[in-house]
Amino acid sequence: MKRFSIAAYISGSGSNLKKIIENTQNGFLASNVRLVISDRMAPGLIFAESSGIQTAVISRLDLPRDEFISKQLSLLKKFGIDLILLAGYIKKLPSEIVDIFSGRILNIHPALLPEFGGKGMHGLNVHEAVIRSKAEFSGPTVHFVDGKYDHGEILLQKKIRVLEGETPESLSKRVLELEHVIYSEAIKILEERKE
Ligand code: GRF
Repeated sequence: MKRFSIAAYISGSGSNLKKIIENTQNGFLASNVRLVISDRMAPGLIFAESSGIQTAVISRLDLPRDEFISKQLSLLKKFGIDLILLAGYIKKLPSEIVDIFSGRILNIHPALLPEFGGKGMHGLNVHEAVIRSKAEFSGPTVHFVDGKYDHGEILLQKKIRVLEGETPESLSKRVLELEHVIYSEAIKILEERKE
């Protein structure tokens, strides 16, 4: 059983992060979230802070590129991070970080990749596209992160049927409930993986 020191990257509400933190506290996961990085002041930072987790807002808008990256790298090193989770992080992770942490970065996406991914495919856009396409199924995907948006190897997906009269909002809500389950399941798969 591996115990990862996790850094989570967020930009928004951080409901996936919250669920993962809860699952590290209730023993479902052996790993711990040590660091939360956001590109802006995000509601998700509040829960992390109140759980005693180090948080940092690091925005490309405030810093030259090299400092933007070195600031992240020094925190990732300081907290001994060996697994990065993108949990609603709206920006692309810098390639320097992707290269160093290759195979140890996960993302969660609210549709069944490889469909409905890529630049601009976030928030309700994703669910609108799913409904417009008349897809029979949707559901979240946890995948490894490589240099391209929503692209790397898929680790876990869960399917639900798109219902009659479904709206982007209703689909988003139902998919998010599953996200809260499968992101922790995916981490557990890595904890139990023999290498
Ligand atoms: C989720 O829908 C996730 O799939 C996407 O961003 C959203 C983040 O939600 N990548 P939250 O901040 O975890 O509530």
